Amino acid sequence: MKRFEQAEVMGKLPEQFFAKLVKKVSYYMEQGYDVINLGQGNPDQPTPLHIVDALKEGADDPNFHKYSPFRGHSFLKQAASDFYEREYGVTLNPEKEIAILFGGKVGLVELSQCYLNAGDIALVPDPGYPDYWSGIAMAGAKMETMPLKEENQFLPRYADLEESILNEAKLMFLNYPNNPTAGVATREFFIETVELARKHDILVCHDFAYGAIGFDGQKPVSFLEVDGAKDVGIEIYTLSKTYNMAGWRVGFAVGNEHVIEAINLLQDHFYVSLFGAVQHAAAAALNGPQVCVENLVYTYEKRRNAFIGRLKQHGWDVEAPKGSFFCWLPVPEGYTSESFADYVLDKAHVVVAPGIGFGKAGDKYVRVGLLTSEERLIEAADRIAKLM
Ligand SMILES: Cc1ncc(COP(=O)(O)O)c(C=O)c1O
Repeated sequence: MKRFEQAEVMGKLPEQFFAKLVKKVSYYMEQGYDVINLGQGNPDQPTPLHIVDALKEGADDPNFHKYSPFRGHSFLKQAASDFYEREYGVTLNPEKEIAILFGGKVGLVELSQCYLNAGDIALVPDPGYPDYWSGIAMAGAKMETMPLKEENQFLPRYADLEESILNEAKLMFLNYPNNPTAGVATREFFIETVELARKHDILVCHDFAYGAIGFDGQKPVSFLEVDGAKDVGIEIYTLSKTYNMAGWRVGFAVGNEHVIEAINLLQDHFYVSLFGAVQHAAAAALNGPQVCVENLVYTYEKRRNAFIGRLKQHGWDVEAPKGSFFCWLPVPEGYTSESFADYVLDKAHVVVAPGIGFGKAGDKYVRVGLLTSEERLIEAADRIAKLM
């Protein structure tokens, strides 16, 4: 067999679980039902105007029509460094400790390419964001899961992990505020993580995609705020959620300089960095007024209160998330996450994401995205409650 025989790696890629969900949803929409889609993680609001204006300004600049520098423009790395100093009190060398990414997703997959060989072990949260699995699978590495349980505030309990696995593991993915559980990390947890990583020589990758979104006045903690974090790992930040820029594909990795160098080196072979105008706009987002971020968090918090408040009025006692823009709801007795999601879609025309799509430990939950108006969220809560 030769003709268009695909490389083995293609067969290793995990199934895109949520593609199935999108198909089901399209079917109900085509039938003309008033579907409320809370199943996705796509921010619903526009990018703030001053950032869009910066893109337009950048597009007019002929300097940006040429290739960008391989590793991105210095002004963007400086902006990312200033952002970390201002927001988290973390000092970063812009040239050595920051790598510009085509969105966080790319960095998460690249990291596994940089550090995992076939058969190596990577630790992933269960439930967790499926893109961690993709890079691990491409490298032919093995995945060991760290269960995230409600009774542990959805933080992994390192004491429950097998010593032999910890000794072998090369890489660990963490993500707080968490998708899908909406759990948030404490500083103590990150201190414990640094100790564990040192003891077992594990490279930690903290995915800080929802870093800007903390509720009740609590700002999420950056992994790099903790002493020693830079020795053991990196953090991946994205502009997708903080500035409603999911379509723009801008993120950056920050932290350990050897890891940053490895990511940059790999990227030298894939890309010539992002369009300069996008980098110009990204710098405007990071350097500019942050009131847009405050307003965004306020909006999500109000939506959370509206949705959770309504479920409570209906007698469904659920935890209010402390961060991210998700609610992680236990399914009623007798359902799996998929059968409940199907039921709610079929009978209430509300789309929720079945927890099984994020791993086995997610099968007793569904994820609701707070990515529509309060009115629609209240309506969704009413429709779901009617079925109970
Ligand atoms: C947990 C988590 N990490 C990373 C990402 C990637 O974001 P992006 O590739 O848009 O930067 C997402 C996006 O949904 C996410 O939910």
